[in-house]
Parts: sequence; structure tokens; C-alpha cells
Amino acid sequence: MDIRVVAGDITARPAAAIIVNLFEGVASPGGAAGAVDSALGGAIAALIADGETKGKLGEVTLLHTLGKMAPARVVVVGLGKQEKFGADAVRTAMAAACRHLRGISVERIATIVHGAGVGGLDARQAAEAVTEGALLGLYRFDKYKTSDAATRKEIKEIEIVEADAAKIGEIEAGVTHGRMLAEATVFARDMINEPGNVMTPTRMAERALEVSREASLGLDVIERPRMKELGMGAFLGVAQGSVEPPKLIVLKYTGDPENPTNNLGLLGKGITFDSGGISIKPSENMGDMKGDMAGGAAVISAMKVIGRLKPRINVYAIVPATENMPGGRAQRPGDIVKTMNGKTIEIDNTDAEGRLVLADAMAYARSLGIERIVDVATLTGAMIIGLGKVCTGVFGNNQQLIDSVLEAGKQTGERMWQLPMFDDYKDQYKSEWADIKNTGGRPAGSITGAHIIGEFAAGAAWAHLDIAGTSMADGVTGTNVKGATGVMVRSLAQLAVNLGRS
Ligand code: BES
Ligand code: ZN
Ligand code: MN
Repeated sequence: MDIRVVAGDITARPAAAIIVNLFEGVASPGGAAGAVDSALGGAIAALIADGETKGKLGEVTLLHTLGKMAPARVVVVGLGKQEKFGADAVRTAMAAACRHLRGISVERIATIVHGAGVGGLDARQAAEAVTEGALLGLYRFDKYKTSDAATRKEIKEIEIVEADAAKIGEIEAGVTHGRMLAEATVFARDMINEPGNVMTPTRMAERALEVSREASLGLDVIERPRMKELGMGAFLGVAQGSVEPPKLIVLKYTGDPENPTNNLGLLGKGITFDSGGISIKPSENMGDMKGDMAGGAAVISAMKVIGRLKPRINVYAIVPATENMPGGRAQRPGDIVKTMNGKTIEIDNTDAEGRLVLADAMAYARSLGIERIVDVATLTGAMIIGLGKVCTGVFGNNQQLIDSVLEAGKQTGERMWQLPMFDDYKDQYKSEWADIKNTGGRPAGSITGAHIIGEFAAGAAWAHLDIAGTSMADGVTGTNVKGATGVMVRSLAQLAVNLGRS
């Protein structure tokens, strides 16, 4: 899709449709919507007066201009209540408007920079949100739908129109930035939505290779023999039930070569299919577990952005990628494995595999001298019980790093909420036979899962993001459509940029 920035009057653009906006509770529209309203003889004000258009966030009202204006159609998109307004409302509104227009086969649209006027966002920020909203909201994963490929509708062009010519440079910068972030998010979504028979650990490593070439990053893919040498018994234990070879994927961006300890490790759970192993999952919705590598996809995709923005910090992405399968060589409940740093773990439940592969990834990160670690994982079903599909759970051992993560989330609009990590929870995963076991029972399952990963931080500052609820959407919400959301790609990139400044 082509996105162009032009100076001028939106009501004079000869587009098939233009997008203007309305805040909830406004009786007589102002700005571009006001200009449209006048040109159409008060049509928008009448719709508001009749209660048909309310300005609710993402609400779409379509008007035909019948020759009274250059554009053939106008979409009035709701921005919601002004007191709740922010860049994320712009993303949601743009996503809704674009999806609607695609649905009626409109190919060329023009839009104002929503939020830059009364909304109070700066032009660059607003343009970024407009671009992200369009690109993410229009995302589809339809490559396997061969039957309707010929009739598929696409928006081909979006013109972003700004009356104030002095703001064009800022807006262009926002569009470029927004496009980069959206494309990296789409790259993650595409990886996650691929079925498990396609997105194997080997294919994940291939995607990482693409990223390393495009962004000039270092790449190391560790195979089973070296994993054995390194003593990654927990990771290997998970992988042994599958015929797919496991890969430990390591991408490295060097942004501060003089200060090797100014670094950040982004660890992503890369279970390309989680059957549960011998502790097998129920078959209902088991197919969703193709998405159990969403954390891995997020960290690989964030490196695309980091490689382009070049913050002054050294960033690693580390992805333990494997299937969790119940093959004849699969590990058993009761098995005891030894991690790279020498700790032993009793396998209580083979379905608690994420913490096992991340334990070795953490130990490996520490062996590389990584001092700050952020892991991203579809770790626990309990996360969906705790926070639903709305918000990512944040855990960790270092409030400063956690605060940096939360701040990045505020900047990108990706919702996060911190949960407590009291030591009392640790009693739940004491083992009779080994140093620890890999489960902590039903109570506070997301917290005990986090704690088990944290056992391997070995003095590093560490934050953990449980994206089990946020990595997949059940349907259209905001900029998401059914399937992978690509959540945390934007926030991780933002985090690296912020840490590079401090
Ligand atoms: N990948 C799952 C968690 C998950 C569940 C992610 C639903 C997304 C949606 C994870 O490996 C898992 O199976 N966790 C277990 C842990 C338990 C056995 C301690 C769970 O949540 O039931
Ligand atoms: Zn899993
Ligand atoms: Mn599992």
C-alpha cells in the first residue's frame, strides 16, 4: 500500500473516500468534519442530532457527497471521549475506517492527520498512529485461501492530507516511523499465524537469517550438538519428544561497541507447537498452540526495528525454538533435567515447557555477559484468567527495568500491568527430588511461572512479559484482527531506544 503525504485541503481531494473524525458528545463538528458538514448542508450535524452518529471510538458513518464535494464519499470516524483520547484512539479509529472502506471496495482514500488538531497530539506522533492504524488494521493472513485470491479487495493508496504546509516534514517522519513499526509487527504476525507444519524451529531460524541480513545483525544458530556441550538439559528435554531439530537462535545488534556491558537481552519463547507433551493438552483449540512462539517472533521482529533505528546499546535476541511433542523419546513427568547453569529441575508437568526452554536461554544470556534481560512468552493460561486478553502481565526482579518496560508500553499503547513477585510464592515449586520443580500448582500460576524463570537470572536485572492473553485476538479489536497480534514488537523496540538514550 502506498502512503503519501500531501499539503492541501482534504475536502478538495478527488479520492473515492476521505476520512474525517468526531469526538463523542460534540454536537456541531469542527475542523475537517465541520468543513464537510458545511459543504453537505449540515448532514453530519443532522446525523448527530438524530443520535445516529455519536462519535464513539471506532464508529464509522459513511456519507455520499453526490457531487457537492471533490471526494465521492466521506467517512466520519468516532474518536471516543476527548478525556480518554490518545494516540491509541487514532490507531483504533483509522483501523476501523480503513477496514470499512476496504469492505466496500474503495481503493484510494485520503485522510486528515487524526488527533493533531483538537486532539492535541503532535503532528509526527499523530501521523505515526494514523499509519500504524491503517497498516495493522488492514492486516490479513489469507495466503492459504486460494479460492478467493482473485476477488480480494485491497486499499491501494492512502493520502495523508495536511492543511499546514509547515507540518509536512514532521508528518512524513511519522509516516516513515509508523510504517517501519507496523511492518515489523506484521512480520511477527505472519510468523505466528503460520501453521506449525510450516513455522518449525528451522523456519524460524530462516526468518532470523532474513532479519540479520536486512539489518546487518550478527546471527548464531545453535544446534543440538552444541546445546549438549553447553549442558542445556532443560531445553533439550523439551525438544527430545519431537523429530523437528531444535534451534537456539541468537541475533546480535552492536550499538555500543566500546561498552559491551551496556546491553539488553530480549528472550522470546519459541515453542512452534505446544501439544503439552506427555502431559498432553485437550484437543479442543489445540491448534491455537501454533502461536506458542509468539514471544520468539516478537523479539526477532523487534530486532528489525532496532537494526534500523540504531540505538546506542548492544541488543541480543535469544529464541529457544522447539516443538513440545509427545513422541517416543519425549520426556516424562518425574524426569529430572539439569540446566546450563547446573540447577536441577523435576518435570512435574511436561506442558510447563516454556519456563524450561527459557531457563536455559536465561543461563545462556548470562554466559554472554548480558546484564539486563526481558523475556517475552506465551507462558501461562492463568494469564488469561488474571488479565484477560486486554493486557500483558509484567513481572521481574528489578523495578527500574520493569518501570522502563512499563514506560515503553505507555508510549506504544500496548497495555501492560505489573503483578507481584513476593518470595512466599516460591514455596509452591519446591521439589522433593531436585532443586525445583517446573510447576507451582493452580494458585497464582502466572506468578510461579515467572518466578521459575527468574531463578535463572543469576544477578541480572530481569523483566518477564506473559503474552498468553494478548498474543492472539479472537476477532477484530482496535488494530487487531483474528489471529496473531504481534504484540510487544513495538514496545521492545521502544524499550531499546529508551535504554539507548540513558
Ligand atoms: N503455552 C501454554 C500457555 C498458554 C495457554 C498460552 C493458552 C496461550 C494460551 C503453556 O506452555 C502451558 O501449557 N502452560 C501451562 C502451565 C501449567 C502446566 C503449569 C498452563 O498454563 O496450563
Ligand atoms: Zn507453551
Ligand atoms: Mn505448555
